[in-house]
Amino acid sequence: MTVHFGKYRAVWLTVFAIILCFFIFTMCVNKENDQIDTANTSRYNLFAGSEKCANCHKEIYNSHIHTAHFNTSGIAFPDRIKGNFDTGKNIFAFNELNQIKMEKSNAGLYQVAYINGKEKKRERFDLFFGSGTKGQSFGSWVQNKLVQLPITYFTSAGQWSNSPGYPNKIAFNRPITSRCLECHTTYAYKLSPEEKEPEEFDKTRMILGVDCETCHGAGKMHVDFQSQNPAVKTSRYIINPAALTRQQNLDMCALCHGGKLQKSKPSFEFTAGKNLADYFAIDTAAKNANNIDVHGNQYGLMAASKCFRMTNTLTCNTCHNTHENEKGKTEIFSQRCMNCHNTGHKENVVCKLVASLNNSLKKNCIDCHMPEQPSMAIAVTLQGASAPVSALMHTHYIKVYDEETKKVLAYLKNNNKGINKTYSKQTK
Ligand code: HEC
Ligand code: HEC
Ligand code: HEC
Ligand code: HEC
Ligand code: HEC
Ligand code: HEC
Ligand code: HEC
Repeated sequence: MTVHFGKYRAVWLTVFAIILCFFIFTMCVNKENDQIDTANTSRYNLFAGSEKCANCHKEIYNSHIHTAHFNTSGIAFPDRIKGNFDTGKNIFAFNELNQIKMEKSNAGLYQVAYINGKEKKRERFDLFFGSGTKGQSFGSWVQNKLVQLPITYFTSAGQWSNSPGYPNKIAFNRPITSRCLECHTTYAYKLSPEEKEPEEFDKTRMILGVDCETCHGAGKMHVDFQSQNPAVKTSRYIINPAALTRQQNLDMCALCHGGKLQKSKPSFEFTAGKNLADYFAIDTAAKNANNIDVHGNQYGLMAASKCFRMTNTLTCNTCHNTHENEKGKTEIFSQRCMNCHNTGHKENVVCKLVASLNNSLKKNCIDCHMPEQPSMAIAVTLQGASAPVSALMHTHYIKVYDEETKKVLAYLKNNNKGINKTYSKQTK
């Protein structure tokens, strides 16, 4: 036996070594699987929070906090709520008997339902959704479930209104889903199993606002590394969209600006740099721009435009600097059009109409080629109204709009001056 063993000693050692290697290898693989697994179930721990980014990227941070993204959700502190709580201005009446009042007390802000003057139900304002440019909706915690409150503030009318999707009567039952949170927060930790409805969330593990880590990926490793290695001037463990492909850049925005996508994987698993099509069933049938709603599908509309189809570089970032609030800065946007549509550019397709006019229209390509149109999705019912009213949104289907051109030229003629941003509002 011993001879036997001695004779095959090398073989045995090799076999043993192979087994050992295999064992170690599987341990490594398992460990990696464990990591992937924790990454999926509790990505929360991988985030740093944007206050941390401020330590080293102060300028970007300071301007980003003024954007609609950053302010698209938060805790419903009284100074964050746009609507009026003063007596007389705090009522939404479905009819004489059925009313909801927005009430302020020491315990907080509430939406309180009254039937025939008697209080029937009250739910607290816990979270707000929407920067308030168009409007604000509110969420209320019922244990770990998040319910949308029945009354929404609609900015253009300066009034409380019936929340989109709610019937025209008192109801407090519309759940706020993980998909809703995926578009309006940076991260929400889901407690309930994927298929269970209504969904449950962990209120302590939620990152409100669409923040740095939405577009750059969870940044704790980056923060730790750069803090521990201040001498290293190049970055690690963070996504720079400038280094991603065109499609990856588009997907990053289309997660929330691609219209109603049907998810095929749980919310919050898609992250910047991945392929959106692996997480959502992308509806290619919606290619016809006339069928795409102006709300929320800037990607679909832009993709139907010649500016997009006839170049291979145009992305959302060609026109938008998302670190800054550039809302209403028509002149800046028009300069970005002119990066392609000037006589010096190789495509050399210029606006003959504007070239022939010697006025401020040269600084406003937007009102004629990306006019504001009513959104079908951001539409609310105002008190006493029978049909919903819509918020106006700039279409991203960039083309020639003859009617808009006529309006702009008529306005110009009547006022004998250049047009500015107030033009669209005055004529509608
Ligand atoms: C301790 C300092 C530090 C902190 C904190 C920090 N960064 Fe950085 N970051 C750097 C340095 C250094 C670089 C490389 C030089 C540069 O591009 O400014 C960098 C680069 C970047 C880049 C460009 C990457 C590239 O490849 O060019 C992005 C994007 C970025 N950081 C995002 C973030 C975000 C988001 C946070 C917060 C989650 C954050 N950083 C926090 C130090 C920091
Ligand atoms: C996680 C979801 C999400 C992602 C990703 C996202 N956005 Fe947004 N975006 C929103 C929401 C929600 C709003 C509406 C904010 C509000 O007014 O409450 C918005 C608003 C905007 C606005 C209007 C700003 C204003 O001042 O009214 C622009 C422009 C915009 N996004 C561009 C982009 C671009 C470009 C990208 C990709 C680089 C992007 N977004 C990625 C969710 C997202
Ligand atoms: C697919 C992503 C997506 C989903 C899901 C989504 N939103 Fe939005 N929401 C947006 C975008 C993008 C905007 C900016 C306007 C636009 O482009 O239509 C917006 C605008 C808003 C606004 C107006 C903000 C403002 O002042 O400009 C409110 C309020 C709002 N959403 C609330 C909600 C609530 C509440 C839910 C869930 C019940 C929800 N949204 C679901 C993407 C989404
Ligand atoms: C809506 C998406 C979005 C959000 C939110 C966002 N960024 Fe960016 N960021 C981008 C894009 C896109 C680029 C690349 C721009 C380009 O193509 O050059 C970028 C580039 C950067 C860079 C490298 C280039 C530069 O400008 O120095 C840094 C650093 C950075 N972002 C930090 C931040 C920080 C910090 C925050 C939060 C305070 C933040 N970003 C929020 C989309 C975003
Ligand atoms: C990345 C370059 C680029 C940018 C930026 C750009 N465009 Fe274009 N645009 C093009 C190209 C290329 C075409 C197709 C020209 C042709 O027909 O050969 C085009 C076509 C157009 C057309 C004609 C569309 C049609 O259906 O006939 C209009 C109008 C237009 N652009 C307006 C604008 C406006 C307004 C902006 C800014 C909001 C803008 N473009 C930004 C490249 C661009
Ligand atoms: C050719 C230039 C251009 C491109 C490309 C572009 N946008 Fe815009 N976008 C604009 C202009 C101009 C406005 C109107 C800005 C204003 O007046 O505040 C706007 C407004 C918006 C708004 C606010 C809508 C409203 O009217 O309230 C959102 C959201 C938005 N863009 C998202 C995107 C996304 C996402 C992409 C990429 C899919 C994109 N944009 C690509 C030029 C562009
Ligand atoms: C008063 C409305 C109006 C304004 C402002 C305006 N355009 Fe136009 N644009 C038109 C009309 C109408 C046409 C089609 C007739 C023509 O080509 O003269 C057109 C055509 C175009 C075309 C297609 C040209 C072709 O030959 O296919 C481009 C590109 C364009 N505009 C870009 C711009 C840019 C960039 C600006 C801003 C500097 C701008 N437009 C401002 C109304 C306008």
